[in-house]
This record gives sequence, structure tokens and C-alpha cells, in this order.
Amino acid sequence: MNVQERINELKTKIQRFDYEYYTLARPSVSDYEYDQLMKELEALEAEHPELVTADSPTQRVSGEATKNFPSVKHQFPMLSLSNTYSSADFVGFDSRVKSLLNAHEKYEYICELKIDGVAVSLLYENGLLMRGATRGDGTQGDDITNNIRTIRTVPLKILQSRGFPAKFEVRGEVYMPKDSFAMINEQRAADGEQPFANPRNAAAGTLKLQDAKTVAQRNLDIFCYQFFSQDEQAGNKNHDQNLDFLKSCGFPVNPNWKKCSDIDEVLDYVMHWEQKRAALPYEIDGVVVKINAVEQQKRLGNTAKSPRWAIAYKFKAERAESRIEKITWQVGRTGIVTPVAELTAVQLAGTTVARATLHNPDEIRRKDIREGDYVYIEKGGDIIPKVVEVDSEKRSPQSKPYVIPEKCPACDHPQAHFELL
Ligand code: IVH
Repeated sequence: MNVQERINELKTKIQRFDYEYYTLARPSVSDYEYDQLMKELEALEAEHPELVTADSPTQRVSGEATKNFPSVKHQFPMLSLSNTYSSADFVGFDSRVKSLLNAHEKYEYICELKIDGVAVSLLYENGLLMRGATRGDGTQGDDITNNIRTIRTVPLKILQSRGFPAKFEVRGEVYMPKDSFAMINEQRAADGEQPFANPRNAAAGTLKLQDAKTVAQRNLDIFCYQFFSQDEQAGNKNHDQNLDFLKSCGFPVNPNWKKCSDIDEVLDYVMHWEQKRAALPYEIDGVVVKINAVEQQKRLGNTAKSPRWAIAYKFKAERAESRIEKITWQVGRTGIVTPVAELTAVQLAGTTVARATLHNPDEIRRKDIREGDYVYIEKGGDIIPKVVEVDSEKRSPQSKPYVIPEKCPACDHPQAHFELL
């Protein structure tokens, strides 16, 4: 076997082991064996730099830091989805679909989890990753190929060796797993840096970093959910077959999708995942419901902004219940004093929450929030969660209304500097 052949063999093996380890979470070799192969490949490539190719597993983090990401045009616009928040809205969507198709025409839905991350487009040529881009305004995005390459589950080269079009595009959602998000925020707090508000912001912020080395340390991941090709012959009849095809090429496809033949099944799926979302290791903000047959998708078409063949069923913000142990007053950078509920620590949307904002004294009076109360908390777009409602049934009969201090709780000034809004 010559050097070129050995390099090819090592690349293929490592690619397979990476897939097993990162995408399937089922490694078949020990870390030691894997490291030996990687070292051998690195050594051979160092001796023969002319044999290094972009799809080599040694080349995930490479290239200079990018100053400005070049702007790139999408070959098909990256649309967004219209949202519904209730089963009544969803029934409306289903009736529209029915009225646009032929009378008595059958159709199926594929329900998928709506991953709360950042949409990206991946272009492949002859099975090799050529470009990764952000959605941008839907028509043009940023070329973030170097950052995308650092995501270990994104195939630099697909696993199939035949049966795919020469050029195709895959779309998916880059996300930050909840545990990585918690770890990164702890580190940021320790370094005196501003924490990220939520895993989506963390993923978006990370993809915009100019240095791929830092991106590689952030543990981003991806779920792929769309396959396109300009070649009309390529692609499958149904979306579920496209998902299976993506999986067989080595793309991470979220396994929790389901084929549903009527609205009731869709609503069951939505309810099931609304209840189970907290147990997932990544954040979802709803469910995406898509017409399965590609030909029907084409007939239904798109409006200017979103397809008529798909809809997002969004969940309400996740809530947790906790008890206010004490109300304290916090002086902000601008000198404004804000009441804060010090809570018994609870888990909410992937993080431990022990404090929530009460906004201002008026909010305390209006909602009659008291120390010792059981309250519901929610996270908005901000880092600090908010108290949204008192669980009045759990209030103790001995409870007394909270007395707002007359003097400024921070400096004893007779007039407190409260936020008035
Ligand atoms: S399909 C025409 N499937 O939700 C748009 N999108 O509001 C087709 N998303 O931009 C997108 N999970 O960033 C689709 N399983 C999923 C998704 C998903 C998350 C995001 C995506 C999209 C946004 C739509």
C-alpha cells in the first residue's frame, strides 16, 4: 500500500469512527485506537503536504481567522414559517391545505421538532462540503464555511459513495446543547464576561466568531431537515424519504419525527413534545408540520415569506414553579433600583434559576407578590427570568402583603430611584 492509499484508508476509517462517536453516540473503537489512527494520519500529511485535502478529518479547524464573512446568495430562498399557537389555528391551516388540493385528495403530514437554533445552508459537490452559510435575510447570507466545518457531526464528505446528485444542498439548524450552554455561561461568568441569554443566542454568537478555533471549542451541533437539488430527477417523492436519505449520508437527523395522517395525530404529537421538551438535551420552541409529498408541496407553493405546505406550531414559553424566599433590591449600573425575587433554585429551560426580576414596586403591588409566595417564572429573551404569576392557592393564611420600603433600599435616600415603567 502506498502513502496515498494509506491516507485514504485512514481518512475513511476516521470519518466512520467520527460518525459513530459524534452522530450515533455509539463508538466502536477505544479513544486510544482512534488517537493512534489520527496521529498516523497527521504524521503522513505532515510529510506529504501535497496529499492534504479539505475533507480530511485533520482539517476541521484550519485557515486564518476571517475578518469579514463574504456575502453569498442562496440558490433557493431560505423562507421562514408561519406560526400558530393553538389547535384552532392549526385546524385552520389544515383546512387551507385541503381547499388548495383537489377534492378528496389524500395527504400526510410529517411532524418534526422545531429546534431552537440558527438555520444554515450546506452545499455539497460530489459529496464534499463546499460551503456553509447563514440564512441572512433569506436571499443572501454570510459564508461561514470555516465555522461550520468545526461542527464534528457535519460531514466534510458524505458517507454514501453513489446514488446522490453531483450538487445538492442540505438545510438544518445549528444549536448549542443545554449542557454545553450551561458550561460556557459558567466559564463566561468566571471570566467576568456577559453570559449568553439562551442557547440560541449562544449558537448565533458563536457562528459569527471570526476565529474557527474558538468555534471548535463551543460544542455546537446540528440537526438537518431539508434536502434540495436543482436536478429534478434527484430527491425523493416524499419528505420522510429525504430524511432517511440524509441520515444514510451521515447527516444528523433528529430521530423524533413522526408521520401523521390526520390532525388529531398531529395534535397528539404536539402535546406529547410540549410535555417532554424539558427532558431533551437541546431546546425546542415548537413543532414543524410539513406536507409529506414533495409534489404536493410544489403545488401548494409559497407565499412571499413562507411555504403554504408547512407551519410551525409554537409552544408557549416554558414555566417553572418556585417559592420566593425573600425580596431584595438591586442597584443597576445606572443607579436604578429593581426588586428581585430570591427563589428556591429550580430548573428552567436547561438552567438553574434562583433569582427572577419583579421589575418595579408597582408590579409587586399589582400582582400582590409576597415573600413566601409560590410563583410561576418564565424566561423571556433576557438572562434574568421574570415572575409571571402568583400561585394563590398555595399562599399561606399567615401571609402578609409585602411592604415596599419608603426610603431607597440601597442608600436610604428618602426617595427611591425605582424604575417607573
Ligand atoms: S423547515 C420553509 N424544520 O424554524 C422553512 N425548520 O421559522 C422550512 N427550524 O428558519 C424550515 N427546526 O430555522 C424546519 N425541523 C425543522 C426546524 C426548522 C427549526 C427553524 C428554521 C426555520 C425556522 C422557521
